Amino acid sequence: MKDDTKIITAGRAHGRRAHPVNPPVVRASTILFPTYDDYLEGVRTINYGRLGTATHRALEQAITGLEGGFETRLAPSGLQACNAAILAFVGAGDHVLITDAAYDPTRKFCEKFLTRFGVEVDFYDPLAGKDDIAALMKPNTKVVFAESPGSLTFEVQDLPALAQAAHEGGAVLIVDNTWSGGYFCKPIALGADVSVQAGTKYIAGHADCLIGTITSASEETAKKIYYALLQLGSNVAADDAYLALRGLRTLSARLKRHEESALALAKWLGKRGEVKRVIHPAQKSCPGYAHWKRDFTGSSGLFGAVLKPVPLPALKAFFNALKLFGIGFSWGGFESLCVHVHPEEHRSAAPWTEEGPVLRFHAGLEDLDDLKNDLEGAFTAMAIAQK
Ligand SMILES: Cc1ncc(COP(=O)(O)O)c(C=O)c1O
Repeated sequence: MKDDTKIITAGRAHGRRAHPVNPPVVRASTILFPTYDDYLEGVRTINYGRLGTATHRALEQAITGLEGGFETRLAPSGLQACNAAILAFVGAGDHVLITDAAYDPTRKFCEKFLTRFGVEVDFYDPLAGKDDIAALMKPNTKVVFAESPGSLTFEVQDLPALAQAAHEGGAVLIVDNTWSGGYFCKPIALGADVSVQAGTKYIAGHADCLIGTITSASEETAKKIYYALLQLGSNVAADDAYLALRGLRTLSARLKRHEESALALAKWLGKRGEVKRVIHPAQKSCPGYAHWKRDFTGSSGLFGAVLKPVPLPALKAFFNALKLFGIGFSWGGFESLCVHVHPEEHRSAAPWTEEGPVLRFHAGLEDLDDLKNDLEGAFTAMAIAQK
């Protein structure tokens, strides 16, 4: 089956008896077993609310199909999905290599938290190739963590090369695949051991729930992820699993529209005098574009633009004039967003040297002309503030 069919059918009951289209929300702490044999069976499947109910299993199955993995487990947020996936493979004395362009809280988890427990952490240039990674690998390297494209700066990584270097050095490759929604990129097919998503973004898709997904390539990896989440006491509300599964059903339709609008806005912004450069993975000028072209089947709604240097009051005027683009964190919902981001504060291996402000745009599902008009109005306000 193709992805568009999988996301509609996966995780749904196919019994002959009448049933709702969507699997219902099953909330539980205690699960009751009618007989001892049922109890024994439950130990292997569904036995306690924290480990998930039929609602969670339905979403997990659907994501496994989409990512092309062995098994998926849910986490209460995208951040915890990233962190638990790393924790599943490291202990005191081990070493983690993480992309310099990672989502900052993931970066901080490695830098500030893992190091307290005797885990060594090094950052690598997001454009690193196989030899670069091989040179950074140590005998104790257990995890290479990638995020492609990178948060804020959108470098597209060479995932097959990273997988090769990681595996030759005895480490696993974990990829934050949030930007593609699991739809435009398949890290597991490219060699990754684990593909993680903030399902909060495109999967849930409506800016109203937080959830993470961790998809393992193999049974061995899946066991490690399962025990990490279990031992962390991780729990996902059934209502959130339901919302994410409902969101997933329209993922392909939404993503295609996000893609179209983001590409059009990126092109439009690229022609503006105020913009120094646009950073969109599907544009040739994007660092790592060749990897996007080879490994992705499309592009989502999130991209960036570096403005020519502008005084802060004028930048504030730009933001304050926006009517459709919301000023807010996160992305992947149906609405357009714009934030001023600061990559220079979150880099060590490959410093960010642009002088002008970096704006991150999320192209939502609003009418494209209305979105352009909104930006036009904001640029006008910026120009007036500079007079
Ligand atoms: C690339 C990426 N990964 C992970 C996360 C964390 O997701 P959550 O907000 O669900 O914890 C985010 C959130 O912005 C993100 O952008």
